[in-house]
Amino acid sequence: MTKTVSAIAASRPSLFSEKTGLADELIDAFLAVRNETERRAAPLSPEDQLIQSMPDASPAKWHRAHTTWFFEQFLLGEHCSGYKPYHPDYAFLFNSYYVSAGPRHARARRGDLTRPSADEITAYRRHVDAAVVKFFREAGEEKLSAMAPLVEVGLNHEQQHQELMYTDILHAFAQNPIPPAYDPSWQFPAAGGSGEDWIELTEGIHSIGHAGDSFHFDNEKPVHRALVGPVRLARNLVTNADWIAFMADGGYTTPTLWLMDGFAAATNEQWQAPGHWREIDGQWHIMTLAGLKPVDPASPVSHISYYEADAFARWRGQHLPTEMEWEVAARAGLLNDAFGIVWQWTRSAYSPYPGYRAIEGALGEYNGKFMVNQLVLRGSSLATPDGHSRVTYRNFFYPHHRWQFTGLRLADYAD
Ligand SMILES: [Fe+2]
Repeated sequence: MTKTVSAIAASRPSLFSEKTGLADELIDAFLAVRNETERRAAPLSPEDQLIQSMPDASPAKWHRAHTTWFFEQFLLGEHCSGYKPYHPDYAFLFNSYYVSAGPRHARARRGDLTRPSADEITAYRRHVDAAVVKFFREAGEEKLSAMAPLVEVGLNHEQQHQELMYTDILHAFAQNPIPPAYDPSWQFPAAGGSGEDWIELTEGIHSIGHAGDSFHFDNEKPVHRALVGPVRLARNLVTNADWIAFMADGGYTTPTLWLMDGFAAATNEQWQAPGHWREIDGQWHIMTLAGLKPVDPASPVSHISYYEADAFARWRGQHLPTEMEWEVAARAGLLNDAFGIVWQWTRSAYSPYPGYRAIEGALGEYNGKFMVNQLVLRGSSLATPDGHSRVTYRNFFYPHHRWQFTGLRLADYAD
């Protein structure tokens, strides 16, 4: 039987507790996440907020509006009697991919939306925020308990868009010949570990996936058993120094190192280095949230596609871990920098776990319909909001994507 949103989400959500007044807990959690979105948007001018530098990226203004539409559509629209949408056209403009929620504006044309203005989106956000807070205050404990899991889906959804706001504006700024700084004081986080250091996983059967009722996305369930190992995993992330050695050894121009699709992508896209790298007077620089900076050899490499990660690993005579290997090692605390710097590509296809069923209704489109032709990334990145990481979290992107903060750690077969 297909589970409901309530059943698949949480009976004890992690962003708020039910120990004291649920309405207040919900309001606090809701406003904290909503305010973080606005904090991330604050340094951006109205012009910055409109740009869509490629079809995969979205304007900051659109992210701000779409996350608002999500609460309007799925919370207020479906559960707050008498609520009228703020604007009759916004569902069309700001629905992303929910076919069952109605027709929508083309994804690749989001940058055409000079109107509504950034200020009008601010007004839209304030209107929906006020309506949601009023709903929380008036709904009553029983209804709020039933709504809490849906609210947490909405908050985690908004946190995912907060990460995209960083990566999308960075991609846009990286196209600018006069590279702007989102935040001049921003710094790439320091790696917690360095050097070649391998951990071993002996052969064993392990539980994979999210256990318990705390918040998780449906794709992390159900818990199932998997045979893992024997395998060796690198304790540390691959660094820019490692990557420069790969480049110097002809890594980008040696077809035998690459998957066929990967070499075609590298050739067509003229990849010679990770994304956002620029060579200036013989020295590599990288576009960061603080503007253009010299590449730091000690930092973990970022903005690489699956294809590049795979080629690098083959150049080293190694490969990428599976997501199960990653989860077992991370759960045991064996990996440095598993979280908070770069998402790590795995060689696991983004597929349903055994026993997976998408949730009912429009939110069933959240994860399940993307389970083809993408690869799983594990961990989290420097752009991931606080409280959004889990050892069972399954991120996913197409193998050519490299505008996220994506890196890798290596795996090797045990002797
Ligand atoms: Fe979304």
